[in-house]
Order: sequence, then structure tokens, then C-alpha cells
Amino acid sequence: MSRTSIRSAGNALGLGPELWDSHFMRACRGEASERVPVWLMRQAGRYMAEYRAVRADRDFLGMCEPKIAAEVTITAQQRIDADAAIIFADILLILKGFGLDLTFAAGEGPRLSPPIRSAADLDRLAAPGEAAERCAYVAEACRLTRDGLDPHIPLIGFCGAPFTVAAYAIEGQGSRQWATVRKFMYEQPAVFHRLQEMLVAALGPYLRRQIEAGAQAVQIFDSWVGMLTEADYREFVLPHLQALVSQIPDGAPVICFGTNTAHLTSAIAASGCDVLGVDHTTDLAATWDALGGPDHISIQGNLDPAALLAGEERLLAMSEQVLAAAGNRPGYIFNLGHGVFKETDVERVIALIKHVHARGG
Ligand code: CP3
Repeated sequence: MSRTSIRSAGNALGLGPELWDSHFMRACRGEASERVPVWLMRQAGRYMAEYRAVRADRDFLGMCEPKIAAEVTITAQQRIDADAAIIFADILLILKGFGLDLTFAAGEGPRLSPPIRSAADLDRLAAPGEAAERCAYVAEACRLTRDGLDPHIPLIGFCGAPFTVAAYAIEGQGSRQWATVRKFMYEQPAVFHRLQEMLVAALGPYLRRQIEAGAQAVQIFDSWVGMLTEADYREFVLPHLQALVSQIPDGAPVICFGTNTAHLTSAIAASGCDVLGVDHTTDLAATWDALGGPDHISIQGNLDPAALLAGEERLLAMSEQVLAAAGNRPGYIFNLGHGVFKETDVERVIALIKHVHARGG
């Protein structure tokens, strides 16, 4: 399957002018806009009182039910005046679709059981089409969100990348070193590839449904892929990411993001993504130049999320450094280098977004 880059696909999704000409969509296509679009990874989360109030009555999976997810998504976008909304969901929901038990214990992060450790474990998983089907509630959340969202504000759908989702499935939880994953990758490469193939076969339809239901763009989170060398990335990861990107319909921009990926940016760009999300340890200006600039790819990032814990003066100075690195080039989307910390004061977030908007494009 081949996919046409967003720069030449035209309005294949048939968007109305409000969305087609929005600052965010223009930036995804590398076109100039009157202002720099800004949204923040994890803009709907525990730092926001409105989120905590809804969360108080239900567990995390209850937050992902369509009506609640739509409410949380829209509230967060409005509260901070972001130029895009991202659907409230999680990269691990697809593993629940495959039949793994998924829990988010308070203060512990996600747990998946039983973890995948062998070829026989793959045989116990649901078929990929079935896994996608069991996650249809995320597309329904997109539909309700699109109905309630400001018509000028694009909705971003998302999923985890095959590598990062496989890493959680194998490890059974988050990890600092991901040693179990890398041992598995080297000792059972065929099973590792097969697991990612199964994930791609589910994540493709999962993202396509989000787009059909009202998402205008998608982000693929490969949060922990930065642990790999470039050679291992190209051997074990890139073919699967390319396979996933190729399944996204023409006209829907694809953003690929990972942390600690400064050494991988040209390899990630080879996925065919339209926008590269860079974290705060990556040199935004040098990376963009090396990739050929806005004619070739758009860039999203990369303010250190810790800047939002600093005083306003330092926060705005740090955001100026990021804007200077982007240098008024078209095709730039302001964001953090990773998700908003839960310790963040929402007023700082609002001040940041006002500042980026006042700067103009
Ligand atoms: O606003 C948004 O960006 C959309 C919502 C969103 C969530 N998770 C909600 C969530 C998104 C985009 C994600 C993606 C996600 N989930 C990633 C990739 C992005 C990244 O941060 O690198 C990863 C690695 C996960 C896996 C995950 N989900 C972890 C590690 C945790 C625990 C984190 C924590 O702070 O406890 C989650 C749970 C989760 N997903 C929360 C939220 C708001 C916190 C849940 C809660 O207790 O209310």
C-alpha cells in the first residue's frame, strides 16, 4: 500500500474550509499561517482540576468511555485555548483489545498481564481485526468529540507505535532499561517481528476508524524507541512503522514522536510521516535543516515540560528559545518535548499558549 505525502495529497478527506485552513492543518502541510499553532501532549490530564474532578468518580478505563473521553478532550482544549485537541485515550488500550489484562493502579503506572514472552503467547492473543473491533469505543469518542468541538479546531487521533506497544506487552509494565524487551528482541527476533506485525494489523484499522469518525490527523507515539541504536531501529522497528504509516489515508497528516531520538531522526522520517515530533533533548533547528527543512517535513516540539514548573519569566524565555529555533519557518507546530507533568499549574500552561499566540507566525 502506498500513501501520498500530505504536501501533495490535496484535500483528499474533503475537509470544510474551517478545518482545512486551520493553523494546525496548514502547518502539517508545510504552509505558512498567521500564527504558530500550539497544542500540548497530555493536555488533558491530572494537572487540570476539571480532569481530576471527573477522574474522582471512576477508574482510568472509565475515563476512556466515549462520553467521558469526549468531555475531557473538549474541556482541556477550551481551558487552555489549544489549536488542536487530542482524543482522550491511551496507547495501551489496544493491548486490552488483544486480550491482555490492563490495569492502572494508583501511583504505579500501567500493568499488563500476562506479559508476552514467547511465540506461544502470541497464539493466545485475539486476532488483530478483533482487537481493533474491541477498541471501536475510541472511534465513537472521536465522533462525539468532533460533534462538540469548535469547528475550527482539528482533532488528533493517536495510537502507540508498534515498538513501544510491544515493549509494554513484553515487559508487562513501564521500565527504565527495558532489558526484557531488548533480550527478547535479540533472542527471538522472528517472534518480535511477528508481534509488531500483529500490532500493525490492528493499529491500522484502529487509526482509520478514528479518522472516519472525525479525527483530521493522527499521532503515533513511539515514546521509548530512543533506547535503540540506529542500526537496531532500522532492522527491528522501521519496517513496521512504515507499514503502519502506509495504512493512513491520503490527506490525514501523520505525526511521529519519540523521546531521546536525536540519533534516530532521519530514520524516523523515513517512515513516511508528515510531521516529526522532537523531544527537548533534540536540537530542533539542526534536525530540521538536516531533514531538508519545511519543504520536506514539518516539525513539532520541543519545549522541556519542566519549563512549566519554572517561574513565568523563565518559562517565556525558554519558549522564545524554541520559537527562535523554529525561526518563523512554515510547517512548525509548537508543543512540549514530552507530556505535561501532573505538578504543572494550569495558569502557566495558559500563559504559555497566550505567549505563543501573541508571537504570531
Ligand atoms: O491529552 C493527551 O495527550 C491525550 C491523552 C493521552 C493519555 N495517554 C492519557 C493518560 C495520551 C496521548 C497518552 C499516551 C501514552 N500513554 C503514552 C505515550 C505518550 C508519552 O507520555 O510518552 C504512554 C507511554 C502511555 C502509557 C501510560 N498511560 C502510562 C505510562 C500511564 C501512567 C502515567 C502516569 O502519569 O501515571 C498512563 C495513564 C494515563 N494515560 C494517564 C493519562 C491522563 C494518567 C491516568 C490517571 O491516573 O488519571
